[in-house]
Amino acid sequence: MNEKQRKELNQVNPVDPVEKSEQDNLSRIKEKTSDDFMKYFEATYEPPNMKKAKKRLKKEVQYHDDFEIPEELATIGEGRKFLIRTYGCQMNEHDTEVMSGILTEMGFEATTETKEADIILLNTCAIRENAENKVFGEIGHLKPLKMENPDLIIGVCGCMSQEESVVNKILKKYQYVDLIFGTHNIHRLPQLVQNAYLSKEMVVEVWSKEGDIIENMPKRRHGKIKAWVNIMYGCDKFCTYCIVPYTRGKERSRRPEDIIQEIRHLAAQGYKEVTLLGQNVNAYGKDLDIDYGLGDLMDEIRKIDIPRVKFTTSHPRDFDDRLIEVLAKGGNLMPYIHLPVQSGSSDILRVMARRYTRESYLELVRKIKEAIPNAALTTDIIVGFPNETNEQFEETISLYHEVGFEGAYTFIYSPREGTPSARIDDKISMDEKKERLQRLNAVVNEYSRKAMEKYDGKTVKVLVEGTSKKNAKVLAGYTERGKLVNFEGPKSAIGEIVEVKITNTKTWSLNGKIVEKAASEQVEVI
Ligand code: SAH
Ligand code: SF4
Ligand code: F3S
Repeated sequence: MNEKQRKELNQVNPVDPVEKSEQDNLSRIKEKTSDDFMKYFEATYEPPNMKKAKKRLKKEVQYHDDFEIPEELATIGEGRKFLIRTYGCQMNEHDTEVMSGILTEMGFEATTETKEADIILLNTCAIRENAENKVFGEIGHLKPLKMENPDLIIGVCGCMSQEESVVNKILKKYQYVDLIFGTHNIHRLPQLVQNAYLSKEMVVEVWSKEGDIIENMPKRRHGKIKAWVNIMYGCDKFCTYCIVPYTRGKERSRRPEDIIQEIRHLAAQGYKEVTLLGQNVNAYGKDLDIDYGLGDLMDEIRKIDIPRVKFTTSHPRDFDDRLIEVLAKGGNLMPYIHLPVQSGSSDILRVMARRYTRESYLELVRKIKEAIPNAALTTDIIVGFPNETNEQFEETISLYHEVGFEGAYTFIYSPREGTPSARIDDKISMDEKKERLQRLNAVVNEYSRKAMEKYDGKTVKVLVEGTSKKNAKVLAGYTERGKLVNFEGPKSAIGEIVEVKITNTKTWSLNGKIVEKAASEQVEVI
């Protein structure tokens, strides 16, 4: 770390001179009018605050199995249609499945047509500024629809709603929005929808109180082949650039028996793949009273009769030997690991508060590759963290070469209000950052293409998900290592795992031919 970065890191440690009440701020003003809210807001505005948020670590998790939709609310949706637009990560995708489940039980019918919808929810993401801009753009697009049809309910939920600055902006600029709620009170959807129908004012209910897990909410899953299963919620890692610990609250694990029961149920329903979800799945179990981690959980899930099990997202810091040992047992545990590195420079990693170094990351990769040969590794990288030098960026490139990742999501750093790194006076220009991103993406593409080329002429197992987006005659699915395969085959193969011989490789996908049963007996399948 250079002297300048060290100084800036000291400056970014958040200082909170005024200790305000621990109590939830926004929930106290629920259902007030916009004017009341504005007065309240001006008096109490507080951006995300790491020091305060860290105090939550010791709070107890409460488990609930008593979710129900009151009888009088179970018919509100009859004759009405809903549409939920989802932004952001798998966590949001899955929350959308829960909200769809609740709305369906209230009598609403799903639609994909904006014009047909009686209620539109935007399930938002706050991870980068452009994610937020997309949502504000969409709220703007909905205005004419609301003018045409004043009975339409427009709701904003998800991670952006947990930010007071966003709620403020909606109250000021988008007064035709009817409902705002956050990530911790999805179970209140029936009452919130009712309030939105009854109230002339915008209904705002956002909880900063987290810590509860509600087990028995209905879910309307997207499809019958692959399913998301939450194993934990929240994040306590507090990487200095990241908004998630504030929008999703503290880490809390579901009880192992609840997770296993859900997966058994999915297996019985014929699902072929589950993806275990959490912002930092390797921290699974740390908050439970028992000595039990992700490795132990996977070791039990491995015995369930479901063909494919994956998990996301891993944090390198908590990826322990027990997990590697269990993953190495193979079977239904897929040899595909998404392991975000963020940067190849130990100095930048330290300022990011990632709690590992370039060397310890490489050592982890070595152990994984040794235990699970041919495991596909992918990653996330942030380019242009404040004052990242060109040499530090080059360390990211060299780490990429050293690991040989098969794919990566790459992002330009986006300052998030209230996070420690947003206070750094960044001297690196946006043009420089864009140029670095291009350089990195060229390397990412090269490695992806090379990873695909290895499959040329080989036979792979593909879980067929449907027809290709571009050509209805072509089927599409994924290999055990997460590669997209397009091939010609009968529609009856959808939902099945079939063998496909690869005939042509591209940068991001493979093309192939379905292998007839008799022929497949003689080939090696990878
Ligand atoms: N919990 C996961 C990632 C969640 S967010 C993890 O720790 O790996 C997904 C990705 O968004 C992150 O891995 C990071 O690469 C990126 N990201 C998060 N905050 C960002 C920010 N402020 N600017 C740019 N990218 C960011
Ligand atoms: Fe954000 Fe992931 Fe870090 Fe948590 S572990 S703070 S979600 S980047
Ligand atoms: Fe975005 Fe929230 Fe996920 S900020 S990435 S939707 S946890």
